[in-house]
Amino acid sequence: MTQSEPKAYYLKTFGCQMNVYDSERMAEALARQGYRETTELDRADLVILNTCHIREKAAEKVYSDLGRIRDVKIARAKDGRETVVAVAGCVAQAEGEEITTRQPAVDLVIGPQSYHRLPELIARTTTARTHIVETEFPGEEKFARMKAPRRVSSPSAFLTVQEGCDKFCTFCVVPYTRGAEFSRPVAKIDAEARELVEAGAREIVLLGQNVNAYHGEDLRGRSASLADLIARLARIAGLERIRYMTSHPRDMSDDLIAAHADIPQLMPFLHLPVQSGSDRILAKMNRKHTAAEYIDLVARIRKARPDIALSSDFIVGFPGETDQDAEDTIDLIEAVGFAQAFSFKYSPRPGTPAAGHDGQVDDAVKSERLLRLQAVLEAQQLAFNAQSLGGVLPVLFERKGREPGEFVGRTPYLQLIRVAADGELVGTTADVVVNDARRVSLSGVIAEA
Ligand code: 5AD
Ligand code: SF4
Repeated sequence: MTQSEPKAYYLKTFGCQMNVYDSERMAEALARQGYRETTELDRADLVILNTCHIREKAAEKVYSDLGRIRDVKIARAKDGRETVVAVAGCVAQAEGEEITTRQPAVDLVIGPQSYHRLPELIARTTTARTHIVETEFPGEEKFARMKAPRRVSSPSAFLTVQEGCDKFCTFCVVPYTRGAEFSRPVAKIDAEARELVEAGAREIVLLGQNVNAYHGEDLRGRSASLADLIARLARIAGLERIRYMTSHPRDMSDDLIAAHADIPQLMPFLHLPVQSGSDRILAKMNRKHTAAEYIDLVARIRKARPDIALSSDFIVGFPGETDQDAEDTIDLIEAVGFAQAFSFKYSPRPGTPAAGHDGQVDDAVKSERLLRLQAVLEAQQLAFNAQSLGGVLPVLFERKGREPGEFVGRTPYLQLIRVAADGELVGTTADVVVNDARRVSLSGVIAEA
């Protein structure tokens, strides 16, 4: 009997950690179907793009990739090799059928709530000889149907605990692409976390578009908060670190703040997007909080955990933003002090309210404001890292570095740190003396015992 070559898939992930998590789950499901991964497009029998719709640039990148993929598909067809092209993720959810019109080489369009049907749909595309578009919100739990065992590629693993968003910020596509808020039950998350730890994870990052709105069912059928969930996961032996993202200021409850003081495994880092420091703009964004409320919230969090590192997202050039509004954002940044941050030019997204607002801001003005904002944020990031210089921090090593004998890990504050050492450090935690601090990373040496 001749064994046929196993089928190969090529999987490219765009966007946020939720997509990274979904891609890992798809990869696990495909492995179960006998597929192996390839990084060479022309060897792939199945190509999946797991896409992001959050800003126009991310979405457009998908179409330029699809153009290249079509060429490869045509070339492979000449050799008698079939290629199934699938578009997953938020562009799939938002654009559906339109994708196959714009790029007919696409065989399958599959939204984030339908991934448990991936193997079946792939099989159908090869017999259907027509496009399949699957972007329903079936309302059932996709997670439960994705039964393949968890693998870990890094000691830091992602675990999605919540999906969707009910906040409807006026700039954001997430409530449309990911749907209404849904929280996974505690028992399911606990079981998955244990599997991950068994497979070698030492840190788990709990993911959700609005993760601190988590309210999953606990073991007694009551509603558990994110703080309850974290307290439970902290009981898992071998799980050294717990993180969560992304949080909304309005859902930063007292028990979650207290968890930062009480649960040693919960790392002193918080990604808490504020978007703008102008109350006028915050109201137009439908953020449901003011600049002063955010600053007060930060003070309460710092009271519980004084050394906590704060991170945020910012949007510049939201419709109607004036120079004064942009200055208000700089003032907020100076009042808070961030360890790191992401900042973006406002990108009008089809179907969102802000795309139709008056006062769209000129791109040149957006660029100018972004540069100014980033200069302030970058100076804060450098200052934050400089505080670590000369100190000793516990580092969880996640991977080997580029240099021989170099390992890369993270401090509790999520700072990237490079350490040269003998032996194998990946998956271990060790105290490191910080001897160099740059804006994006630290360097250090293992502390003498
Ligand atoms: N334009 C620019 N940035 C956006 N974000 C979300 N939607 C948009 C948009 N239309 C940013 C927000 C959010 C992050 C994930 O992406 O800052 O927190
Ligand atoms: Fe989008 Fe976050 Fe606002 Fe939800 S809370 S609409 S995910 S920016």
